[in-house]
Amino acid sequence: MRRAKISIIGAGNVGATCAHWCAASELGDIVLLDVPQTENMPRGKALDLKQTSPIMGFDSTVTGTNDYQDTANSDVVVITAGIARKPGMSRDDLLSTNAKIVSSVAEQVKSSSPNAVVIVVSNPLDAMVQRAFQVLGFPSNRVIGQAGVLDTARFRTFIAMELGVSVEDVSAMLMGGHGDTMVPIASCTSVGGIPVSQLIPDARMAEIVQRTRDGGAEIVSLLKTGSAYYAPAAATAQMVEAIVRDKKRLIPCAALCQSEYGVGGYYVGVPVILGTGGVEKIIQLSLTDSEKAAFQKSVDAVKSLVASMESLLKA
Ligand code: LAC
Repeated sequence: MRRAKISIIGAGNVGATCAHWCAASELGDIVLLDVPQTENMPRGKALDLKQTSPIMGFDSTVTGTNDYQDTANSDVVVITAGIARKPGMSRDDLLSTNAKIVSSVAEQVKSSSPNAVVIVVSNPLDAMVQRAFQVLGFPSNRVIGQAGVLDTARFRTFIAMELGVSVEDVSAMLMGGHGDTMVPIASCTSVGGIPVSQLIPDARMAEIVQRTRDGGAEIVSLLKTGSAYYAPAAATAQMVEAIVRDKKRLIPCAALCQSEYGVGGYYVGVPVILGTGGVEKIIQLSLTDSEKAAFQKSVDAVKSLVASMESLLKA
């Protein structure tokens, strides 16, 4: 069977670390691309990663390039290109610069890998995946945003730390935008099958939810030179795995919602089934009134972000 071809656009920290996780799990052959101004940097990172293969035991090829022709006919394309946050910046401060970068990447991917499933990771995520979808013109099931897997991973980590239990036993769901309004769904969060409400008092859960919302900013303030990359990259690799191995994972991703949840044509984080076809199904949960209100607030924030992006792109 032919190995999957996975191209990662942007060989910065998130892109290179994603290549690392994908190679280590032998998800396919990997192409790491960055803009010509970076010259041989993607080649250097790819060769370095390839040289770990005898130690780590994987047979994937890893190629670095500045040329989209090397990414031709990829099965999965991951877009990480764009600038990252510095302390004091919100994800939304990246809007104008990254909208232009993602537009130009999507133009190239459209012609070089017309059948790919595209995963967008660049921030501000919800607007960037909307932009990629507009430029690519692919069916919406093949254009997906990474955020929910990262945000739920943070939430699960904090819950496991709180209870002193294995992260493997914490299962959680989180919806909405990848921003300050993201909505952890407490009613869908459990530990070893036990609803989390039976284990953590509401007031303490509210603090854990807030730390999850601020999870990206917490890392930015510690690193000072950029934003998180291990967890965002691992979250992306989990999505790549679901697609190339047709795993039908039920995980939160940014998907284009039309009638679903009454969103009306925007990308927001919702539970989906992810397999070879990309988003194979959007799961409709029944939310409590307060979850509905919080989700609506998050959708409104995504809509205003997309409107700002569209006016910046017209200017
Ligand atoms: C974060 C950035 C990468 O949440 O969005 O860490």
